[in-house]
Amino acid sequence: MSRAEFPARVYIQEVVTRDGLQIEPRFLPTADKIALIDALSDTGVAKIEVTSFVSPKAVPNLADAVDVARGIRRNPAVTYVALVPNLRGAEAALDAGMDELNLVMSASETHNLANMRMTPEQSLDGFRAIVGVAAGSPARLNGSIATAFGCPFEGAQPEEKVLALAESYLALGLHSVTLADTTGMANPRQVARLVAAFRARFGDVPLTLHFHNTRGMGLANALAALEAGAERFDASLGGLGGCPFAPGATGNVVTEDLVHMLEEMGVPTGVDLARLLDLARGLPALIGHDIPGQVAKAGRSGDLHAAPVGLRRAAV
Ligand code: COA
Ligand code: ZN
Repeated sequence: MSRAEFPARVYIQEVVTRDGLQIEPRFLPTADKIALIDALSDTGVAKIEVTSFVSPKAVPNLADAVDVARGIRRNPAVTYVALVPNLRGAEAALDAGMDELNLVMSASETHNLANMRMTPEQSLDGFRAIVGVAAGSPARLNGSIATAFGCPFEGAQPEEKVLALAESYLALGLHSVTLADTTGMANPRQVARLVAAFRARFGDVPLTLHFHNTRGMGLANALAALEAGAERFDASLGGLGGCPFAPGATGNVVTEDLVHMLEEMGVPTGVDLARLLDLARGLPALIGHDIPGQVAKAGRSGDLHAAPVGLRRAAV
């Protein structure tokens, strides 16, 4: 097997204030959300998914989307993204000056009905309308395919179905695509196959991988994607996250653990890991519970410990 070539730089896209907070048991006050996003803006992440412009009945934790989007400080080096499910959400996100809209639907019809209350056709019709209203704005449009690696209701999703959906997105005029493993069902070989197939069919169309660590395969999947030619990854500080409309959903790949792994491998991310770890270690106080992230607890591989005192070789 030949040695995989890694990209010159990996783009880290932080989703904690969207995917992370949407499923938290408690509402995080708007000012705390803004402070967290402002701090994340100075860590070197390429994108921040700020919030969702969705029904406040569906996702009460993000009911303050407008105030958050308007309240944050904007670092010109960061792309600020909002998730939108429909035309109404897109109009609100554009109005709030988001740089990018993340249009989401599922490969699986059942999950799309549970999550968005729409058939695939209804979702795509909505996307078409969004392309229309966004035409005069500088905002970029990304299309996410949820349950791309498996659905908790339907199981495996055929690769061809996922690629055909990506093709529909691009035909509509969306600029980039995210393949999302909503409930951590992907395995590394499957990921490598789908990323390679995406690259073969769509060339260098920007592709993001969005993994959840539900079954402990998140970092392995990220590595498999990287080796297959992916360079953009969503991840969530501390490993918070999950879709409220997918049974058993748990957190995203942990941003600081992913950055740590990449740095240890010599793959540049542009992210200041020390700052990220500080923020991750502050999360439990903010949200009121422990976080799944491991490097925040263990420290970096290079954070060495003092040798035990009084060490000496046993007498022979
Ligand atoms: N932003 C804010 N409110 C919205 C909205 C939007 N983008 N779209 C619809 N609404 C409001 C409606 O005005 C209505 O409010 P009302 O009950 O006070 O009149 C309510 O939400 C329901 O609207 P309706 O058009 O009947 O939609 P629905 O009940 O069929 O739900 C969605 C469709 C897409 C709005 C809803 O399922 C949703 O927001 N899903 C997002 C789920 C999500 O974020 N999942 C996790 C991320 S993948
Ligand atoms: Zn997710």
